[in-house]
Parts: sequence; structure tokens; C-alpha cells
Amino acid sequence: MDVTKEFGLRNVNSHCSISEMDDYDLTKLLDKPRLNIKREKSFDERSLSELSIGLARGLDNFESSYSPGGRSGLDTPASSARNSFEPHPTVSEAWESLRRSLVYFRGQPVGTIAAYDHASEEVLNYDQVFVRDFVPSALAFLMNGEPDIVKNFLLKTLQLQGWEKRIDRFKLGEGAMPASFKVLHNSDRKTDTVVADFGESAIGRVAPVDSGFWWIILLRAYTKSTGDLTLAETPECQKGMRLILSLCLSEGFDTFPTLLCADGCSMIDRRMGIYGYPIEIQALFFMALRCSLAMLKHDAEGKEFVERIVKRLHALSYHMRSYFWIDFQQLNDIYRYKTEEYSHTAVNKFNVIPDSIPDWVFDFMPMRGGYFIGNVSPARMDFRWFALGNCIAILSSLATPEQSAAIMDLFEARWEELVGEMPLKICYPAIESHEWRIVTGCDPKNTRWSYHNGGSWPVLLWMLTAACIKTGRPQIARKAIELAESRLLKDSWPEYYDGKLGRYVGKQARKYQTWSIAGYLVAKMMLEDPSHLGMISLEEDRQMKPVLKRSSSWTC
Ligand code: GLC
Repeated sequence: MDVTKEFGLRNVNSHCSISEMDDYDLTKLLDKPRLNIKREKSFDERSLSELSIGLARGLDNFESSYSPGGRSGLDTPASSARNSFEPHPTVSEAWESLRRSLVYFRGQPVGTIAAYDHASEEVLNYDQVFVRDFVPSALAFLMNGEPDIVKNFLLKTLQLQGWEKRIDRFKLGEGAMPASFKVLHNSDRKTDTVVADFGESAIGRVAPVDSGFWWIILLRAYTKSTGDLTLAETPECQKGMRLILSLCLSEGFDTFPTLLCADGCSMIDRRMGIYGYPIEIQALFFMALRCSLAMLKHDAEGKEFVERIVKRLHALSYHMRSYFWIDFQQLNDIYRYKTEEYSHTAVNKFNVIPDSIPDWVFDFMPMRGGYFIGNVSPARMDFRWFALGNCIAILSSLATPEQSAAIMDLFEARWEELVGEMPLKICYPAIESHEWRIVTGCDPKNTRWSYHNGGSWPVLLWMLTAACIKTGRPQIARKAIELAESRLLKDSWPEYYDGKLGRYVGKQARKYQTWSIAGYLVAKMMLEDPSHLGMISLEEDRQMKPVLKRSSSWTC
């Protein structure tokens, strides 16, 4: 099969990238029927406005040739319509709530608000469309055969990227994507305007480093799911990608290929000791680089980026797989590390002092299993386990197949700690007492086993499910979904749960939190039809095989 022709991404260039090969492999694996959508005009012939206007017309065509799940009407969830048996009652309630959270700009749906919680006294910014929060909503709509809202969102945020961004007198990088935006409706003047937040209004003025990466990942998900290559190929989207990439591929004083970040730069958007090289950002960075590689044109402007991406991917995967990875054997090696080693022959390259290894890791580490730790920098290894980074590492194939299997082994071995009664802990373990004071700055929202500090976030269910399907362990996802299903609707879709087992609705958790709702729907739809996985997963790139110098869990 000619992959380049099939997927068509490289119509502009005959070069076949690594990621396309992955697409091919994944399709074979999942036995998903290839989308076959005819392109009406070549990519360069159509302008962005034409694309937007022509959306409805284009969709008609698209609907007739490709109808995921064979849905019968716009309001009918495909996942339930396809089956003869009754869907779980939570599913239809979830769709209703998801649709209620839609945000419109001049009559077009452009996103979903973070939470539809009228009972909450403080709205703060939960009435905004967050880029990261919209991702599971987008996947739910794509899986249900409703790609137009996703396209509108991608175009709207792209426009916002073009804004001049300032915090006080400081101008932000051109490529920065907003954390969130809000649509203001003026009923007198009958106008809609948008205000965006790039961190200049956010609590703590945190930079959303993840937004740009999610945008790229979503653009690929849209392309992969619809077969519509025209959007990613527009000069505007190509430029948007290049601007994001310029920000994170620029040369500086770095000695590592990982991306240096400030605290609170991602889903964890408050001070939580994730400054430096947090796993969440490194995994999203890796995935966004691979998605870009599949979508960037190899033209005069794109070519240079493609070369830089390939180099960075090699270095990044080597660094992550070697230095962030930990399992029983590796922990034992670090425990016995010598310190103060000089020159390139050093084994303990970052001069980690074994005494700094926290006690809990020794008990937590099973004989079988492993994970990517939270952070690695000079003399510092943050051994905390983070859900998002580890799941994205599996989905992006930053983790080797053996490492992916080991991450799943850890889930099984430490189910009570990581899942407990509500999937899924954002990180493990919580920090308390003196350490909490120092690390969070006494943050009352991030007390132990709450919110970002070891709280349980239902949104993470979709990532866990995707990782389970990819590693061939759907039974783990099934178990997790059942747990969530028994409580989410009854508890009105909380943002997060508290406690060591995740048993209590979070202290300050919003209700009707959209990504809790969408995350559940995506998990359900993926488990029902695993071919959906392709839009959010990349196969292993055999050219990036690491030189593993260390033992790993699968050898024991
Ligand atoms: C909180 C979360 C953040 C999320 C936002 C909107 O700030 O920490 O991850 O994007 O709420 O739900």
C-alpha cells in the first residue's frame, strides 16, 4: 500500500516521513478502514476564509463518504446509536451536559467552557474555553463524526496566536497560544468579541506551555479522523505550527534536549515544584514534534523545521528513555551511585545524591513495572509519578514498547495508590507538612491528596483508556471506567476528587466540569471502537530505538 498516497499528507512532496510510516503501521494494527476522501481542490488553491465558508458544503461531501459510527443524527451519540443494546444511562446524560457547555462565536460553535457550574460562588475563569480542557471535548466530537467545531476551534485559536501579547511591559513570544479565551456577546450591538488569556490574567501569571503542543496534537487528530488534509496544509496552519516550534526549538544555553519550563506551566497551573523539565511538558513536546513532522510541508520554510525536529527527537527520546526512566533495577543503581564524578565518563551524570531519594519510592517500586519520573535536572530527580506524562509517553511512543508495558504493569501493581476509588491520581504521592510549605508556598488549594497535589482527576480517564488499548490491556480501562461510571453522574461530574483513595468530591472542585464529562465519553467510545485510538496515538519509530545501557523491568 502506498501510504503517502493513501493519507495524502505528502502530496506536496514525495518525501515520506517517519510518522507516516507510523500511520500505516497503526492502521494495519487496528484494522481500521482507510478514509478515502477526495480532495476537491489542491490545498494551496483555497484560502482560509474560503475554507471556513465552505465548511458546511465540504462537510456534506464528507458526511456521505465517511460517517464514523454511522450516526443517524447530529444529536445522537454515534457510540450508542451503533449498538443494539441500550447505552449506559450516564452516556446520554454526558452528551447532554457536553452540548450545554458549547460556546458560540457569531453563531458557530468554537469550543466548550471549562465548567458549567452555576452553584459555585466564584466563576473565576471557569467560564472560558481552555485549550487543554477542550482536547477531550474535541476528541468526543471527532469520534461522534462532528468535526466542524474542532475545525472552528483550531482556526479561532490560530487567530489568537497572531495577537500581540504582553504582560505588563514585556512582549511574549509570537508563537504563544492562549491558555483560554472567552467570547463576549453584546446583545445591544449584536456583536461577538473574543478575549484571550496567555497567562497575563491567570492566577500566578503562569505560562501555558502545553497549549501550543495540544493545538498541534489536535490538528493531527482532526486530520487523521476526518481525512481532511486541507486544514493542516493551509499556509495559516503551517505558519501556526512553525511559530509554536520556533519557540521551543530555539537555541539557548541548554545542555539537555528537554524543554526548560517555569512552575505551573501546564495542567498543573499552580506552584507545585514542577519547574525545570516536567515530564508532562516533555511528553507533550515529543508528541507535538512527531505530529508536526507528519504535517509540515517540506517547502522552503518548513524544510528547516523538519530537520531541526528530526535532530531534536533523536536527542530527546534518548535523554528521556535513559535518564527519566526508573524501575527496580534503575532505582537500585541510583541508590548505589557515586557522586562528584567529573568528565564524560561519569555514570551519575547529574550528580544526584543518593540520600535525596525519598523513602516512599523504595516501597512504591514493584519488582515488575516502571515509569518516567517527574523531573530530572542537576542534582535533582523528582521521583513523583505523574499520570499525564506517563500516558502521553505511551501514546506518543516516547516510551519503548517495553517501557509502555512496564508503565501498565505499575498501574496493575499499584492500583490502590494510582487509581483507588476514582481514576486517576494526577500525581503520586502527595507532598505534606514542611515539604508542602516549601514546595507549594503554603497553597491551601493544593493540600495533600487534593487538587494538583495527589487529587484524582476524572479527565485523565481518557488517557488511561487510550494507553490501555494501545498496550493491549483493555480490561484495565474497563475496570477504571466502571469505577468512574458508578460516581461521576451522581456527583455531578466533579473536576477532581480528594483523599488517598480519591473517595471524596474535591474540596473546591467545580461541578459539571466539561473535561470530566468529555473524558468519560472519549474513554467509553474508544473502548467500544478501538480504531478511534489512531487519532491520538503514534506508533513506535524504529529509527529512534534507544541504546539502552540499563536493565529494565522486563528483564527481571
Ligand atoms: C484549573 C486546572 C487547569 C484547567 C483549568 C480549567 O486551573 O488546574 O488544568 O485547565 O482549571 O478547567
